[in-house]
Amino acid sequence: MTDLDQLRDHLLAAVEASGGLDALDTVRVGALGKQGTITGLLKTLGGMSPEQRLVEGPRIQGLREAVTAAIADKKAALDRADLDARLARETLDMTLPADGVGAGSVHPVSQVMDELAEIFADLGFAVATGPEIEDDWYNFTALNIPETHPARAMHDTFYFPEGEGERKMLLRTHTSPVQIRAMQAAGGNKPIRIIAPGRTYRSDSDATHTPMFHQVEGLVIDKGITLGHLKWTLETFLKAFFERDDIVLRLRPSYFPFTEPSAEVDVGFSLVNGKRVIGGSDGWMEVLGSGMVHRTVIEAGGYDPDEWQGFAFGCGIDRLAMLKYGMDDLRAFFDGDIRWLKHYGFAALDVPTLSGGVGA
Ligand code: DAH
Repeated sequence: MTDLDQLRDHLLAAVEASGGLDALDTVRVGALGKQGTITGLLKTLGGMSPEQRLVEGPRIQGLREAVTAAIADKKAALDRADLDARLARETLDMTLPADGVGAGSVHPVSQVMDELAEIFADLGFAVATGPEIEDDWYNFTALNIPETHPARAMHDTFYFPEGEGERKMLLRTHTSPVQIRAMQAAGGNKPIRIIAPGRTYRSDSDATHTPMFHQVEGLVIDKGITLGHLKWTLETFLKAFFERDDIVLRLRPSYFPFTEPSAEVDVGFSLVNGKRVIGGSDGWMEVLGSGMVHRTVIEAGGYDPDEWQGFAFGCGIDRLAMLKYGMDDLRAFFDGDIRWLKHYGFAALDVPTLSGGVGA
């Protein structure tokens, strides 16, 4: 028996005798590792004469292959034995409750949008949408906003590069262009009741302003619409939204190009432990802009202003959320910090309606 045969017998016996994966690995390292016996033999090939190498090369390689194969077989056998042992040992209690899958939560902005849709649906309003990339006509001209209006300035509005002869495109600065689109879609001869929640953009950034924010637009077009309808609608909406009956409103004369007359709407707040809470009348807080739709705007939407009237309003959704749910930094809304969302987020379907508060 040559030395190689002896080594082979010895290694194969060691492999076979390995009682576990660790022991098997020790054998593997001893034979095939950097300092292993077979590795050492392979290194001697370099110093041999070509004739000798022709004889010894295949023998040493054969040994290496045999040992490698034996180790692989043994490893498979040990793995199988291990699995069998575990299957025999472990039991699975199928009656145990499953691990919970972490539930997501609804972002306060989405929550408020759902609340708005729900409350206004009860008043017969549909939800309308429009593009966030608008053209200058819908965003400004059709809304009677003159060329000289500061909102049109380059430093307030995000404009797209202008192509020759193309319409001037921009990120809409408010949801009001949806008024025009809704009127056009209705065809100039049907009453309209819509709200249009969505994203809006302005070149502005501090603790109370972010370049992207959310607004909701409201529009009613019908015959014989008056300021009284506007006031009642807003009052009914704000009572349902803030879930309080003691909501008082103040309409302050103001100016918007797209309404005449125009009013800024303040809502009364009370001071509770030094904090402002909507409801009561310790002071006033501005919550939205509104007015009777300007006849130029009614015309731009394809309606006859001698026959049809309407009211409109526009309101910051993020601010509504802050007032109702007590956050004080607007920027945190859009930071995407999961801890903030865990704290301020909502479970699905907690939405107030006209007939009741959250969960009713
Ligand atoms: N578009 C106005 C803004 O972004 C808000 C607004 C005011 C909308 C009065 C209206 C309205 O529909 O009637 O500041």
